[in-house]
This record gives sequence, structure tokens and C-alpha cells, in this order.
Amino acid sequence: MSLLYRLAKPLFFSLDAENAHNLSIKILKSGLVPGAPTLRDPILRSKVFGLDFPTPIGLSAGYDKNAAVLDPLARLGFGFVEAGSVTPQPQAGNPKPRIFRLESDNAIINRFGFNSQGLMVAAGNFAKRSSTGIVGANLGANKDSPDRIDDYVQGLQKLAPLVDYITVNISSPNTPGLRTLHGKQELDDLLGRLHETRAEMVSSDLRSIPILLKIAPDLTDDDKSDIAAASLEFSLDGLIISNTTISRPPGLQGKHLTEVGGLSGAPLKSLSLSVLKDMYKATSGAIPLIGVGGIETADDALARLKAGASLLQLYTAMVYRGPYIAHEINQELAALLRKQNYSSIADCIGVDTPL
Ligand code: FNR
Repeated sequence: MSLLYRLAKPLFFSLDAENAHNLSIKILKSGLVPGAPTLRDPILRSKVFGLDFPTPIGLSAGYDKNAAVLDPLARLGFGFVEAGSVTPQPQAGNPKPRIFRLESDNAIINRFGFNSQGLMVAAGNFAKRSSTGIVGANLGANKDSPDRIDDYVQGLQKLAPLVDYITVNISSPNTPGLRTLHGKQELDDLLGRLHETRAEMVSSDLRSIPILLKIAPDLTDDDKSDIAAASLEFSLDGLIISNTTISRPPGLQGKHLTEVGGLSGAPLKSLSLSVLKDMYKATSGAIPLIGVGGIETADDALARLKAGASLLQLYTAMVYRGPYIAHEINQELAALLRKQNYSSIADCIGVDTPL
């Protein structure tokens, strides 16, 4: 952990978690947070869905919901930054308090419920960024939308020209009914409409933007095989595995463990890893996977790559270990890869998950 965060962490942790989050965004906006040194290590580079990633660890969605601090985030050492979830119309989300630290578990429970300033604000922010780092837009749906699939179509149309990839987030546990979009019929409808929309956009001269689907960790075996089949059928560019869990793994200690919402951080690690392996097998390694959920160390990162992930993301570990966590993990990951005689990220993807 950096000296800066060692000093700042007690202040953040003395505040309510949402106030701490808002303060961190303000500090980033002020430009007061120094950037991490640029890591130009060829062993960490990879090409995934047509994009050149300098390093494999990205910032997961939910931290920068309105794409308000893309430039300062790009300087912290993330290989890519995913902003959102963005809903078409602005909405307030659930009543506060709606985010809780489980400090003794290195975990968080949140039930934000897609608080979002909406597509117009996010589009303005994406358009005015000056950094050249890879940026993704994570799309959500409004709680009271009469047609949630149409919400994702609107997001794709509005944001595709402004970002490097699009994530369709059907896995927030905090919007009632959203996760039903994992079902076979609903998923076929959703992916079919997005596929069509993208094809129309390409024919009107926009490049073919990569579309990724972000899934829940709380799935049945049938769900997993239906998602794999639909992903292949509709030529999805990637799957993000996973969002937060509604389960409560045994052993949680934090006093907020009974709060309703999605659990992230260390207790999600083994569940996310096992769903990642299942999906790598179910898709026969044919679709790039982004591993996310409880990644805290270079060992976690390497295990996730070996399980079948092409890229990684994190969020909760940044709360506990500070803004330079991606830079720190990347440095250690490069050393680990060399020690184990790998010459690139691509070399080790899926070696622990025989097909
Ligand atoms: C999230 N996450 C999330 N995901 C998403 O797709 N859209 C969102 O708006 C949010 N919002 C959000 C808020 C908060 C406070 C947290 C902690 C998480 C989920 C996040 O992107 C990630 O998938 C999980 O948190 C698991 O990764 P970590 O946090 O264990 O590294």
C-alpha cells in the first residue's frame, strides 16, 4: 500500500462509505492524486477483442458511475477503465444508507440500485475525456422502464461512438427483476436486438464496437450453458464474470453481513473463480473472458488468467489497498509470469482449465 493511502485511509474509513466514495471522486477531480509510474512491460501486453491492452487489470464498473473522473483514473495504472452503470434516464437509486464496508472480511455490500445521472451526462463526460487509455461504458436499465431491452439498445446507440467497448450489465442484484434477463428467451431477445443494432450502426459507417455481457455469479448449471450458447450464437465479444453475489459465504465476520445487497471483495473470490472456469469450459475458450470478483493480489490475478480469463478487473480491493493497487499488482504479476517461464499473458490463459 502506498504511503499516501496509508495516511488517507483512516480518514476515509472514519466516514460513512458513500461519503468516503464521494470524497474520493472529489479528490480525483481536483487533480491532487499523483499518477502511478507508467509500466511499459511487454510481458503484460495483450490484444483482446481487437484492442491493445498495455496491462491486464482494469477498474470494474460502479466506481465511476457517471464517467466523471476518466482522466485521473487513467493515470493510476489501470490497463482500462469501465465507467457506469449508466441508465438512459437519470434516477436516484435506493434510499441511503446503501453501501457497507465489512472491514474484517475485506468486503463490501452495496444496494445502490443504479443511481445514475443518465445517458446524456455520461455521453458528455465520455466525449470530453483527453486520456487515450481504453475506456468501456457499462449499461444499465431504468428501474421503472417499460422495455428494459430498449434501454440497453439506447445505451449502445448513444455511447458506442464515444468509447472502446460496451458492457451490458444484466447482473446487478439491486434492480428488481433485472437478473431474469439471464434466462434463455430473454437473453436471446436482448442479444439479438443488440446484435441487430450494432449491424445497423456498422452499415452507417461506425466501427463494429465490441459488446460484452456482465453476468452474475449466482447461476444454475442450466443458466451457464444457456448463456454460453447465446454468447456464441450472437457473436458476443466477451463475458465479464462476475458481478456481486447475493449469497453470503460462511465465515463472514463484518457487522453489516445481514444487509441486503450484492457482496463483493475477498469472500466473492472462490465463487467468481469457479463460475469463470465453468464459462471457459462451456464456451470452449472461444470467447474472451474478463475475470472479476475478489482479486486482491498478483497470485489472485495469475490464478484467474490460468483459469481462463484474458483480462481482469477489480473494485473492492482498491477501497482496502488504495488507488495504486493495479500498478502494484501489475509489477508483481510481471515478476510472477517470468518466474514461471511464461513469456506473455496470452501464454498462460486457461492452462488450469482443460477443455
Ligand atoms: C459495484 N459493481 C457494479 N457493477 C456494474 O456492472 N455496475 C455497477 O453500477 C456496479 N456498482 C457497484 C458499486 C459498488 C459499491 C461495488 C462494490 C460494486 C460490481 C463491480 O463492478 C464488480 O463486479 C464486483 O464488485 C466484484 O469485484 P470486486 O469488487 O470484488 O473486485
